[in-house]
Amino acid sequence: MRALVVGSHGQLGRALCGLLGERCAWAGDRADLDARDAAAVEQRVHQVAPDVVFNATAYNAVDAAEREPGEAMAVNAVAVRHLARACRETGALLVHVSTDYVFDGQQDRPYVEDDPARPLNVYGVSKRAGELMAMATDVEQLIVRTSGVIGVGGSADKGGSFVERVLARARRGEPLRVVDDQVFSPTYAPDLAAALLQLVDLGARGLLHVTNEGHCSWHELACHALAVAGVDARVTAIRTAELTLAARRPAYSVLSNARARGLGLAPLRPWDKAVADMLGR
Ligand SMILES: NC(=O)c1ccc[n+]([C@@H]2O[C@H](COP(=O)([O-])OP(=O)(O)OC[C@H]3O[C@@H](n4cnc5c(N)ncnc54)[C@H](OP(=O)(O)O)[C@@H]3O)[C@@H](O)[C@H]2O)c1
Repeated sequence: MRALVVGSHGQLGRALCGLLGERCAWAGDRADLDARDAAAVEQRVHQVAPDVVFNATAYNAVDAAEREPGEAMAVNAVAVRHLARACRETGALLVHVSTDYVFDGQQDRPYVEDDPARPLNVYGVSKRAGELMAMATDVEQLIVRTSGVIGVGGSADKGGSFVERVLARARRGEPLRVVDDQVFSPTYAPDLAAALLQLVDLGARGLLHVTNEGHCSWHELACHALAVAGVDARVTAIRTAELTLAARRPAYSVLSNARARGLGLAPLRPWDKAVADMLGR
């Protein structure tokens, strides 16, 4: 495999680069290649001539997206079109990553790929538009929806991943109030990255769901991370309605991994084991 990774400093991008090693012909973040710049994307993909382009970029600021939908669409949708076109021109496979937030959270069973996408917020709309941009381009493609990505690093805008932010707040002695009415499957970036590479090796194409096994609320995730890290702190469980957030969020966005399993992807380990690994336990 000769890979090109866009968005290489994010949680997933770092994990991909770490796993790819010498198979990574080129990797860069926003400063190296702004995915919104169609000409720069085209030039870079032609120059590197990869077999596979991994799009690990995202505008992930879910609440900020409500007031800057143009920016969310530029990164999460239009940039995907640029990447898809460059891949089509060079014959590369596009591996694109999407989100559980394309769903409205009204179901009480895990979402399968064919369930109707009904995003509740601008971020979800922009990610769904990105999926459609790829699908509307005649390019070899693998689109993987995942949920609650945790790992090292993460968007500078957010101040690191959820787990890192919870531990930092607790260590500073700051109060922790975390919602317990949003249920999803936390997914560890290195496990997701390994799954993406495995799926490429398996020749998988189309739209797939991939998460760590099991599910929990953000409150359970925070409590588990603190317990594993040995940090003694109380986490107050709150309802989403108690927060004045700009964006609505799905109450239940667990994704079914059955299709990926059927293609031969080994189940990812349970989310709580992945968190322990992330924290070196
Ligand atoms: N994080 C989650 O909870 C979650 C949940 C479901 C799905 N996903 C999806 O999973 C994928 C990976 O997410 P992640 O958590 O690894 O994201 P992340 O940690 O926020 O990383 C995204 C990276 O993209 C970069 N980026 C933003 N705009 C760019 C641009 N115009 N050109 C090039 N790079 C740009 C960011 O750089 P800056 O730091 O400079 O902005 C950042 O390094 C994304 O598709 C995301 O939508 C994430």
